[in-house]
Amino acid sequence: MEGAKKILYSAVQPTNNLTIGNYIGTLRGWRELQENYDALFAVANMHAITVRQDPAELRARTLSLAALFLACGVDPDKSIVYVQSHVKEHAELCWVLNTFAYVGEMERMTQFKDKSAKHTENINMGLMDYPVLMAADILLYQTDLVPVGLDQRQHLEIARDIAQRFNNIYSPTFKVPEGLFLKVGAKINDLTDPSKKMSKSAENPNGSVFLSDDRDTVIRKFKRAVTDSGSEIKYDPSEKPGVSNLLEIYCAFTGKNISEAEAEFSGLGYGEFKLAVGEIVADKLAPIQGEWKRLLDDRAYLDGVLAAGRDKAAGLARRTLSKVYRKIGFYDIKG
Ligand code: TRP
Repeated sequence: MEGAKKILYSAVQPTNNLTIGNYIGTLRGWRELQENYDALFAVANMHAITVRQDPAELRARTLSLAALFLACGVDPDKSIVYVQSHVKEHAELCWVLNTFAYVGEMERMTQFKDKSAKHTENINMGLMDYPVLMAADILLYQTDLVPVGLDQRQHLEIARDIAQRFNNIYSPTFKVPEGLFLKVGAKINDLTDPSKKMSKSAENPNGSVFLSDDRDTVIRKFKRAVTDSGSEIKYDPSEKPGVSNLLEIYCAFTGKNISEAEAEFSGLGYGEFKLAVGEIVADKLAPIQGEWKRLLDDRAYLDGVLAAGRDKAAGLARRTLSKVYRKIGFYDIKG
C-alpha cells in the first residue's frame, strides 16, 4: 500500500454457506475494486462468535472463506487478505471505542434487535457490541470507503459517529469513512419466496443457491423457483417479484441489462426461462468452484497468504492504535 489510492475495507463472516446473493452483492465486485483502491478483505471470525459456533466448523469455514475470496479474483499481491482474529489490534481498539459508544444507541440497532429476538437464549454482550467491533475494523485502517448493502448501513453510520466523537474530543485521529453503495443486484431474493431476501440460513434450502452447490443442484433449484401469475417475462418487482428476481440474477451473472434480458426471453415460457437462468448461473460458478477447490487443497499456500496479510494489516493497525493510546493517555514505557 503506497498511500496514493484510497483505502477500502470489507469483511465477511465465516458463518453458514454463502449464497449467490452474497456473491452478487459483495464478492463479485472485489476483483474490480482492488484495482482502484488499496483494499483490505477480512474474514470476520470475531464477529461470527457473537452467535454460538461449532469450533471445528468455524475453523474450517474461516479457511474456506479466505480461499473463496481468492477464487473470486482477489489478488493477495494487490490486496490485504487476512483473518480478523490474527490482528489483535481489532480487539484492542474495540475496547477503547466501547467507551465512545452508548448503550442506548446499541440497543436501538436493528440487527441487534433482530438477533436478540432470534437467539433469546444467548443475548450476549458481544452481540450488542457487534457494531463497535465493526467500527474498530474500519477505523483501524484509516478506511475511506466501505462497500455496504442496505443491511449494513446502520453499522457504517455508527462507525462514522464514533470516529467523529473521538476526533472531536481529542484531535483528528480517524478518517471518517464513507459508504460505497452498490447499485444493481444489491438484493437477491429467495427463489421459493421472493418477498424475502436470499439468506444463508433460510428455513427452506431450496430458496437459496449456495456457492458450493453443484451444477445439478443449482439447476434443480432454479427449475423449482416460484414464478408469478401470467406468462410474460417482464421486470416488475411489485407485480412479478419471482420473475424480476430471476431477471436480476441473470443480469448480475451475464452483465446484461434488464431490457436486454427481457428481449432475449420474450416469447419463452417460464420453464425455459428458469432453465436458462439456472444454466448460466451454473456455468459462471463452475470456474470459481474449481479454483476454490484447488486452493483449499493447497493449505500451505493459503496459510502463506494469510500470514502475509496478517503482517501487513497488523503494521497498519498498530499505527492507528498507537495514536489512539497516546491521545487517550495510556502510559507507555520508554525504550
Ligand atoms: N457485519 C458484516 C456483515 O455481516 C461483516 C463485517 C465485519 C464488516 N466487519 C466489517 C463489513 C467491516 C464491512 C466492514 O456483512
